[in-house]
Amino acid sequence: SSSKLLIKGGTVVNAHHQEVADVYVEDGIIVSVQPNINVGDDVTVLDATGKYVMPGGIDPHTHLEMEFMGTETIDDFFSGQAAALAGGTTMHIDFVIPVNGSLTAGFEAYKKKAKKSCMDYGFHMAITKWDEIVAREMEIMVQEKGINSFKFFLAYKGSLMIRDELLLEGLKKCKSLGALAMVHAENGDAVAEGQKRMIDLGVTGPEGHALSRPPVLEGEATARAIRLAGFVNVPLYVVHVMSIDAMEEIAKAQKSGQKVVGEPVVSGLVLDDSELWNPDFTIAAKYVMSPPIRKPGHGKALQAALSRGVLQLVGTDHCTFNSTQKALGIDDFRKIPNGVNGIEERMHLVWDTMVEWGQISVTDYVRITSTECARIFNIYPRKGAILAGSDADIIILNPNSSFEITAATHHSRTDTNVYEGRKGKGKVEVTIAGGKVVWDGSALKVAPGSGKYIEMPPFSHLFNGIEKADAAYLSSLRAPVRRLKAAT
Ligand code: URP
Ligand code: ZN
Ligand code: ZN
Ligand code: ZN
Repeated sequence: SSSKLLIKGGTVVNAHHQEVADVYVEDGIIVSVQPNINVGDDVTVLDATGKYVMPGGIDPHTHLEMEFMGTETIDDFFSGQAAALAGGTTMHIDFVIPVNGSLTAGFEAYKKKAKKSCMDYGFHMAITKWDEIVAREMEIMVQEKGINSFKFFLAYKGSLMIRDELLLEGLKKCKSLGALAMVHAENGDAVAEGQKRMIDLGVTGPEGHALSRPPVLEGEATARAIRLAGFVNVPLYVVHVMSIDAMEEIAKAQKSGQKVVGEPVVSGLVLDDSELWNPDFTIAAKYVMSPPIRKPGHGKALQAALSRGVLQLVGTDHCTFNSTQKALGIDDFRKIPNGVNGIEERMHLVWDTMVEWGQISVTDYVRITSTECARIFNIYPRKGAILAGSDADIIILNPNSSFEITAATHHSRTDTNVYEGRKGKGKVEVTIAGGKVVWDGSALKVAPGSGKYIEMPPFSHLFNGIEKADAAYLSSLRAPVRRLKAAT
């Protein structure tokens, strides 16, 4: 039956190790990984000779079915996940947006949207205001609802943006709950000023988006968030690192021993801002996201930082709007819904750019596309590994096959693709999710409702050593206080 599966003769790759082995799967779980496994006739056998057998991708950053900037992202939990599976991603973590400031209402709304899921998913939660109720709801989310990360927006003034006072409260709360604080790092006040400048100059097109929020505003907010997280002594996760400015702040903090995770997204790694100047609005508008896609040079520097380990995992920020939705900003770049596609393209583009071009090893590829995400969000080795006992979320990638990206053939509902026409080496020929073949290289076999909600427990390894550091800090404060008291 289809619930028993043997993947024969491939090179099995984990983040720590690779070897030629067979993988035997039963009822959605990997049962054994070893050479020459013999099975009966009732087992479906897939030949992976000459190919890589790897953990399915985990996308740490998506926005499916999100209400945003006067509209709603066009990929819902079914279409976005189907696209993901066709591209070798078998789990994603989406951002719950509170409803009227209520985390509980937001969580319930997202659980309802996600009922049609065809792959496993988890949630981060955005924090957009602060009071005693929010603080209490954060506890409930962590202790009862399986959420272990909260995103704070330093940009989107007037809607999602929060002030430093709230960020500090949030960081303290995250620390006490063992939850990871995530930050959208752009200075929202300065962005508003930059936008005003552009409008005053008569720049209303998509290029005004990039010009109004330059890398310095991302660098400032990244540095500020890092320093405040250091002050509170809590780990920090910087989402969508788009610029050298932000990356260098992260590198500096890591050098000083601070726990900062940097997440680049595919668009920031492989695209540059040139199309924002395209006179065809429809083309230019599809590249509008925040922080903006940067000038040539930033992407290459982010790739290098990824290969050095300064940046640890790759997301997409998949947040799709079709051309009609993007046209909401035809007269004013400030009204163009922010976001680009990527959930289906990430695994291929990262393989081609990082492995095929010789920047990282195949084991590193598994680490940055899957394992590191599972570790950070505390679901390893259930996810992110091909080990006995892990969930059977597996891809077979043929390094000698090639891919081509087009809106005409992609599975997202959006009518454009920011990677239109890109070709590369390395193709996901099979995706297995929950022990079932859902993608065979040309056709999807997905059913709404087959995806599971993955609860993510608090206090990941990032929290190791925090208490010790706090104790050391306190005793370093006490000594001078004692001296001061003795003197008076
Ligand atoms: O442009 C973007 N990034 N849209 C999604 C919302 C966010 O800030 O992640
Ligand atoms: Zn091994
Ligand atoms: Zn963001
Ligand atoms: Zn995002």
